[in-house]
Amino acid sequence: MSLAKRNLVTIDDLSNQEIEAVFSLADEMSESMKEQRNLCSGLIMATLFFEPSTRTRLSFEAAMHRMGGSVISVVEMGATSLAKGESIADMARVVGRYADIIVIRHPWEGAAKVAADYAGVPVINAGDGSHEHPTQTLCDLYTLKKERQQVKGLKIALCGDLKYGRTIHSLTYALARFGAARIYFCPGPGLEMPPHVLGKLTQDYGGKLLKAPADDLHSVTQTLAGQSVDAIYITPSDSHQLALMPGVQIKIDISEGAIYVTRLQKERAEDVGRGAVSKKDYPVINARLLKGKGLERTLVMHPLPRIDELAYEIDADPRSMYFEQAARGVPVRMALVALLLGVKKVDIPEEETLLRIDYPLYKRDFGVKCQNPKCVSVQETETRYIKPEFKIIKTKPLTLRCVYCEHETHPQYIASSKWHDGTLEKKRYYSSDSFMLERIKAENLIIFGSESEAQDRGFKRSQYATTPEKGRGGAKR
Ligand code: NCD
Repeated sequence: MSLAKRNLVTIDDLSNQEIEAVFSLADEMSESMKEQRNLCSGLIMATLFFEPSTRTRLSFEAAMHRMGGSVISVVEMGATSLAKGESIADMARVVGRYADIIVIRHPWEGAAKVAADYAGVPVINAGDGSHEHPTQTLCDLYTLKKERQQVKGLKIALCGDLKYGRTIHSLTYALARFGAARIYFCPGPGLEMPPHVLGKLTQDYGGKLLKAPADDLHSVTQTLAGQSVDAIYITPSDSHQLALMPGVQIKIDISEGAIYVTRLQKERAEDVGRGAVSKKDYPVINARLLKGKGLERTLVMHPLPRIDELAYEIDADPRSMYFEQAARGVPVRMALVALLLGVKKVDIPEEETLLRIDYPLYKRDFGVKCQNPKCVSVQETETRYIKPEFKIIKTKPLTLRCVYCEHETHPQYIASSKWHDGTLEKKRYYSSDSFMLERIKAENLIIFGSESEAQDRGFKRSQYATTPEKGRGGAKR
């Protein structure tokens, strides 16, 4: 099977076996660096980085140079026509004619998908806002595999900015897919895992999410020295028994696993210092914490860069893995790029398919829009050509997942494009929780985020349209 011409926008674009294949090739290449030096000769990589980067951009470029390829690069939005109002689609179409592969980092969530939709050459997402950063996850998983042989059964604590940290989101999905037994969420204040990530974890990966009851915080405190655990994700392969027994404390055990910490993503966390989000009480991993019982073998991981959440005093500690993670970025990205360019092939049984649920799709150029203000689909330059598009992931209540940023929305109103008799009098809208949702054929369904959207299209209120109670309903983020 060939990975040639494929994109890597989210970690779910690669199946588990394809990820394993990238790792075997990375192993092979790191042992024979010199032999790779002509592998990509004559091929060009474009690195388009519209946000700061050290490791990701340089390791991609180093990877391409090590394989004899060339690199063209943009490191600032202001230096491109995006600053003149050019769309991502047009930029991607053009760059796709100059280069054989594109690596893009952009602050809008879903920007890499748009680039992939238009470039005509493989596109790799090097971080799109708070959404995903799949190649960092490859480096993280590769490190876990090297140190612990397999991810299955591991217990991992994720600490810090779980809300805005894109590395955390991609890693969480991958850990769930590879069968990590438990993932403990230890967010900084106000930086809890967003609802759409939790929704995907439970709905798509079938695991169980538990809120750590206050009583359990005592045992947590002993292990993670003062950090509170917000929730625990348990994958289907692990026993839920202990956690489900009332009155039994959830024992936090990461003795064979890892603590993965991230910095506060202050460039995206506009709410820092306001309300619940504060830098005070942000988790810190230091020598004192690592002296804790049960952490003698626990790996310390971080995607870097660090600020204050990772003390320099533990750099020489054999449990500290962060510089290893960064170093492994070169062979891992060499393997990935070589496979997507088709200069290397892997042997993967055909029957292995991507773990992807085929939710019905909903797409119209009017009606409900993504509610995430950082989503590429709602940006002025992009709405000229992007139509809002969603996966219908639930009907009770009606829940849509944006195909670009994956945020969820719960629209309140629906209508049919084939209204009864075709008489304007019957052109009505209904509540999305009414029986009409089942009556309307999928191809005729129109979904509205608000009553005014429906009324602007000439639909009148039906007797089956109710106004949601205050404080409930409405298009939620
Ligand atoms: C991360 C990123 O850009 O999301 N950095 C990286 O690529 N290693 C993490 C971060 O910036 O905190």
